[in-house]
Amino acid sequence: MDFHLSEEHMMIRDAARDFAQTELLSGVIERDNKQHFPDELVKKMGQLGFMGIMVDPQYGGSGMDTISYVLIMEELSKVDASASVIVSVNNSLVCYGLEAYGSEEQKQKYLTKLSTGEYIGAFCLSEPEAGSDATSQKTMAIDNGDHYIINGTKNWITNGGRADVYIVIAQTDRDKGSHGINAFIVESGTEGFHVGPKEDKLGIRGSDTHTLQFNDVKIPKENRIGPNGSGFRFAMKTLSGGRIGIASQALGIAQGAYELALKYSKERKAFGTEICNHQAIAFKLADMYTAIEAARLLVFKAAKDKDNGHDYDRSSAVAKLYASKIAMETSVEAVQIHGGNGFVKDYHVERLMRDAKITQIYEGTSEIQKIVISRSILRD
Ligand code: CAA
Repeated sequence: MDFHLSEEHMMIRDAARDFAQTELLSGVIERDNKQHFPDELVKKMGQLGFMGIMVDPQYGGSGMDTISYVLIMEELSKVDASASVIVSVNNSLVCYGLEAYGSEEQKQKYLTKLSTGEYIGAFCLSEPEAGSDATSQKTMAIDNGDHYIINGTKNWITNGGRADVYIVIAQTDRDKGSHGINAFIVESGTEGFHVGPKEDKLGIRGSDTHTLQFNDVKIPKENRIGPNGSGFRFAMKTLSGGRIGIASQALGIAQGAYELALKYSKERKAFGTEICNHQAIAFKLADMYTAIEAARLLVFKAAKDKDNGHDYDRSSAVAKLYASKIAMETSVEAVQIHGGNGFVKDYHVERLMRDAKITQIYEGTSEIQKIVISRSILRD
């Protein structure tokens, strides 16, 4: 694997870094405090091509590779993980799912708008009683000839109150288990579709997370994605790509926390010298740096697997498992290096620490990643 970025990749990374520093940084504490969704910034990210990074230009996307996606995600996440999860869900779970498995009509109707940021997408799999155990969901879609009727509840849905297009995973035939599941496109405003109250979260507070209710929601047959019964495989494949996005988000949180801690340690004095000169701090910085380097290699490996057409179920789970672990550890250490200042909002590291936790939970908990990895290595 080539570890050096091309000129083009460096330009993409620098554009994302510039956007994060000039546009995301100034309001990030306030958005976190007030749980404000960054509507205007999402529009700008759409104009920059960040909402459809890997989508073919014929559908309005930027036509970039997965390495570019990872670089953009890392830069956005260093500053604002709430903004980056909007990007990740739209790119990995919605645009990818439609481009890889949708019909030409679905791509023209929805993907062309999702990839430019004109529309925002949401991915609805989790339920009150089915988060990790995805086949046990209760939402039902009944086949009624030329349409389906959907009933059920989905929760913890990112972009839940803001999306224009929802990809909804539902049972169509309980007796068939994972083969009796389908994915459907539901447009916001469809009769019977209700958005519940916004969740008051520990982290990624600038993102929009809701419970959704489906009461006799009627959708046309052509809104089913892929052949009958393919919804579970669709969800698993889509989530594998999503895990590369969340791994790069975790990497960005870790890198952001490390950079802040490094800078602070060179400025803050204690016992007559800058604190970075004390081995207690210098060793922490060395550990943080090493863990981040290792995580970045794993994230790049998973992205390369995807770009090269190799299987990436295992490498994306490995990258997410490790990057989310070190995001948590690194951000905790960054708070520690900041001492009392780390515990107040102005220094940003407490927010990064709160944001880090979700990377060990969504798009499959760390325990789910271990299931995916162990099943894969035991099959070898
Ligand atoms: N690719 C293709 N097929 C796959 C697959 C994959 N990656 N994973 C499973 N399958 C197939 C299996 O081969 C199997 O097919 P057969 O029956 O024909 O053999 C079928 O699907 C069922 O697979 P399993 O028996 O492995 O299924 P399981 O019930 O044991 O579950 C699991 C596997 C990995 C635990 C899965 O349920 C899972 O990933 N759960 C976590 C779900 C998750 O990530 N939720 C997050 C919600 S989305 C989110 O957070 C988005 C957001 O808003 C940010």
